[in-house]
Amino acid sequence: MTSPLKICDNYPLIEKNTLGLPSTARCYAEVNTIAELQSALTFAREKRLPVIPLGGGSNVVLGDFLNALVVHVNLKGRTVLSRDQDCVRVRAEAGENWHEFVLWSLSNEAYGLENLSLIPGAVGAAPIQNIGAYGVELKDSFVSLEAMNLESGLVEYFDRQNCGFGYRDSVFKREKRDQYIIVSVTLDLDATLKPNLGYGQLGDLVARRLGGRAPSAVDISQAVCDIRREKLPDPSEVGNAGSFFKNPEVSSSEMDRLKQAYPDIVAYPVGQNWKLAAGWLIDQSGLKGMREGAVGTYQYQALVLVNHGGATGQDVLSFSSMIQQKVNDKFGVLLEREPRVYMESPQAGLRS
Ligand code: FAD
Ligand code: EPU
Repeated sequence: MTSPLKICDNYPLIEKNTLGLPSTARCYAEVNTIAELQSALTFAREKRLPVIPLGGGSNVVLGDFLNALVVHVNLKGRTVLSRDQDCVRVRAEAGENWHEFVLWSLSNEAYGLENLSLIPGAVGAAPIQNIGAYGVELKDSFVSLEAMNLESGLVEYFDRQNCGFGYRDSVFKREKRDQYIIVSVTLDLDATLKPNLGYGQLGDLVARRLGGRAPSAVDISQAVCDIRREKLPDPSEVGNAGSFFKNPEVSSSEMDRLKQAYPDIVAYPVGQNWKLAAGWLIDQSGLKGMREGAVGTYQYQALVLVNHGGATGQDVLSFSSMIQQKVNDKFGVLLEREPRVYMESPQAGLRS
């Protein structure tokens, strides 16, 4: 006989989010099986509570009290589904740690995720914002996912087209927001390594380390990890959620205006438009390493907001609004937040 799902009341989330924000969930459950997930959803429906899925908590800003059932998705499993001379199809359950999954794929001679090494969080959250780094995005290898519909409790299938992936974006942040919990992800990886070394300093670092030798996937993964460790704060030491804003996209006429005023502006073309480096905009606004109370920008990467200790979700939001205001005043560019915000507001319920 299976034991009933354990649901905790007034559960502290401070250790469940990488910004280290104090937050209490009215109800909290860790689910290890699909049946437990279904029980959790039944409970939430009966109590009329919204459901908030949580993986590693590395891309959320949490308010002091969440009048919700927070579900820690802890479904485990990784499988090689098939292999031919070009392609290795793999599947991982949502609760697998992303970085461990990347290392597992490399040890199974399945390539393509090495540039996505060391991104914190769980596999199930990866499609939510189509995680990306060093010139690679999840969508590049994505085949499909399975997600439980919060209303019906049934598992539905989404292929790549249904997911509507974009830069740090998917349908799960837009029209299908708050409607599904992702339970598994299937990817097609390469059977032979196709190094992707075009981004920033990655190619140079690999070349310097290896001399003339062709890099292995593990070499690339290690170089990515080293660059990331240099630039990004380790959440176990300083609370943070990675980049706090997306890199904004502007039209070419807007780019002309900016370029005239700021010839050194860091930007790269995307189709007809330009993507600006938000970190550069914040840095050039004189805000790198600055601090107000417990919240600040990271001294080595202005795009990362850090909790120096004792900050609340509201402190982080207020600080981020100040940054948005100052960058907008200087450059006329609006920065959009990247992490999902869960703040309780009695009128509007949970907002982002
Ligand atoms: P959580 O923070 O737990 O959740 C994020 C959102 O997804 C929430 O809305 C949550 O409700 C939802 N969610 C979580 N699990 C599920 C599920 N199973 N089904 C449905 N919804 C779900 N991101 C990048 O893209 N590239 C980077 O290079 C990068 N670097 C980072 C570096 C650092 C130091 C940190 C702290 C963060 C970084 N991030 C980066 C952001 C973050 O790691 C990713 O967005 C990651 O995918 C979040 O995973 P998580 O499990 O922690 O999600
Ligand atoms: N820059 C500055 N000052 C700063 C920070 C950056 O001038 O304080 C300049 C850098 O010199 C560089 C440019 O901005 O020329 C870009 O910086 P970086 O290479 O560090 O990348 P990023 O654009 O800041 C993005 C992602 C990261 C991802 C890296 C690597 C977004 C919002 N962020 O950062 O993703 O790891 O590229 O691909 O797209 C995340 O999403 O949480 C995240 C960490």
